[in-house]
Amino acid sequence: MEDQRRMSARRKIIAGNWKMFKDARETSIFCESLRAVYKPDPRFEMVVCPPFTSISAAVYALAGTDIAVGGQNCGWETEGAFTGEVSPRMLLTSGCKYVILGHSERRQYFSESDQLIGKKVQLALSLGLLPIVCLGEKIDEREAGKTEEVVGRQFDGAFHSVDRTGFDKCVIAYEPVWAIGTGKTATPEMAEEVHRFIRGRSASRFGAESASEIRILYGGSMKPTNSGELLAEADIDGGLIGGASLDVGSFVEIAASAPRR
Ligand code: 13P
Repeated sequence: MEDQRRMSARRKIIAGNWKMFKDARETSIFCESLRAVYKPDPRFEMVVCPPFTSISAAVYALAGTDIAVGGQNCGWETEGAFTGEVSPRMLLTSGCKYVILGHSERRQYFSESDQLIGKKVQLALSLGLLPIVCLGEKIDEREAGKTEEVVGRQFDGAFHSVDRTGFDKCVIAYEPVWAIGTGKTATPEMAEEVHRFIRGRSASRFGAESASEIRILYGGSMKPTNSGELLAEADIDGGLIGGASLDVGSFVEIAASAPRR
């Protein structure tokens, strides 16, 4: 009973990480068609995370709806001589509510360390931008039985300087690297096991109440054909969706597959 109350208290998040897809014009078209079919639903909050140059188009097209907009990354300072960077304050004042931090593609192609991600999480929080913190192991790490060690280390790095109040504003996304863009999805059981581990880690660091409230999304080849069973798991509180979020139809279908509890 208590467990159920806690579960239903966690409104799911269905977030689209568009990566380096959709320019401003394509973003307007997408958001206008999303707006046309979208109906607010207490089961989930929808979020779109376009590239920086498309953020204002998304914010404009979604104005007046409760669909949130997020950035895919941000700098670790509020302003300064950092050519090419975008600060979390700029995201916030452009209309973003969320920012994805620590995505495996940032770790892999832009050499982002746990320490740097921790700095970004802290700064975003201090400004009122809500981080979606990504954690996930690579295939060799999973095969070597190191999933919990890797995810645990990433968790500790990302939340190193965060207090409980800050943690309560965060969202976590478990994204096994081997499942991203590969069509290989973690089975619901595999994902649930790691989600449970992350919730346990949250409890030991921030206490049982924070752990029961933090939303932990799954990401990695989520699509309408597998989202229902993933979202039905007790510790999976939504999805961070890449490829399937680029199409309004499949994005909305994934959201609609969220269980009614
Ligand atoms: P795909 O859904 O394309 O596998 O991407 C997942 C992801 O990286 C979301 O952040």
